[in-house]
Amino acid sequence: MGEFYNPVKAIFGAGSFDRLPELIAGRSYAVVTYGEPYFAGLVDRLEQAAGKAAIVIDNVLANPDFPEVKFGCEKLAELDVLPEVYIGLGGGSAIDTAKALATSGGDWELLKEHLETEGDRADELQGPCIIAVPTTAGTGSEVSIGAVIWDHANNGKWGVRTPSAYAEYAVVDPELTLSLPRDQTISTALDAMSHALESIWTVKRNLVTQPIAAQAAREVLKYLPALSDDLGNIELRTRIANAAMLAGIALSQTRTSIAHKMSYPLTMHHGVPHGIACGFSLPMIMEWAIGHDEICDQGLADVFGEDLSAGVKRFESFMDDLGVARDPTAHGPSQADWDGWLAAAMQDEKGKTFLGKVPV
Ligand SMILES: NC(=O)c1ccc[n+]([C@@H]2O[C@H](COP(=O)([O-])OP(=O)(O)OC[C@H]3O[C@@H](n4cnc5c(N)ncnc54)[C@H](O)[C@@H]3O)[C@@H](O)[C@H]2O)c1
Ligand SMILES: [Fe+2]
Repeated sequence: MGEFYNPVKAIFGAGSFDRLPELIAGRSYAVVTYGEPYFAGLVDRLEQAAGKAAIVIDNVLANPDFPEVKFGCEKLAELDVLPEVYIGLGGGSAIDTAKALATSGGDWELLKEHLETEGDRADELQGPCIIAVPTTAGTGSEVSIGAVIWDHANNGKWGVRTPSAYAEYAVVDPELTLSLPRDQTISTALDAMSHALESIWTVKRNLVTQPIAAQAAREVLKYLPALSDDLGNIELRTRIANAAMLAGIALSQTRTSIAHKMSYPLTMHHGVPHGIACGFSLPMIMEWAIGHDEICDQGLADVFGEDLSAGVKRFESFMDDLGVARDPTAHGPSQADWDGWLAAAMQDEKGKTFLGKVPV
């Protein structure tokens, strides 16, 4: 038996940013974004077309942490009336912050308790309209239920856990990713690749998510190398933006697995960008995945061809050509740290979703 539910209306393609005024439809709106000039320019462009925002919260940093989210809640609490629409404009960090702020209704204590208890008081969270406008092509947060909030001070990483954190609209305009530098283009696309493959090698995979995930992975495999050498190519940007969205749709049903579990200490302790942290190990994990589950093997064959061992080699070359080191120690931890994390991951709920066999 399987299930599939995703309530996000997605609008995609070059120029879709210009559909925002129609989606805002005269309602009061907040914009949540980074404090960088490129994003201030996009906010100006939006305000000229849709009227002035009720509030612009532009303190988002990569991997949103408690202090920034608390600040955003306080700004919302100062308003006489909360905005009706929340626009997350940026990568996963901006979209996830927008989701957290929208559901908080400006109540930091409520949100913090929800995060730290892994779900308490979810029924008190709010459900205003969220519009996710990704400017990276990777996280799939625009179509996923989750929002990741980090607590570096306490080595914590939490999720907003309520269906109201689904965006109402995803506006996926690949033109917005044209300014993304090469390293972030690669790392965010590898995040999409990891969402696709994690959706294939998890116990939660099914015959509906599998082809979606396989299509996303094939597209990244085919088009990312060319894009990394031709960053201004809108056709290639479009392919990768759509692949990231597809991978996010698969992920919204399956959730992540072992590659993500292993990525968190790398990001937390060694500052490795999310996409590299959950992407560099994929060829290694693919090797562990092969031969343990028929549907998983078929999904991998749909991406890499029937000869899966040759597929692993091809995948290794893909990483090497992109300049992404495949050895964990190249990213900061000692081999002993990595082995310890792996052993712990296999005892964890997320790690246990992995269909393959880890050699520990
Ligand atoms: N909610 C989900 O389903 C989900 C899934 C995966 C990851 N995440 C989370 O998403 C976050 C990572 O998001 P991300 O990888 O998209 O990156 P990000 O949002 O953290 O942004 C990284 C950097 O890219 C820059 N940037 C973004 N768009 C740009 C553009 N068009 N031009 C130039 N610079 C640009 C930003 O200024 C920032 O410095 C992490 O917190 C991760 O845990 C969430
Ligand atoms: Fe991810």
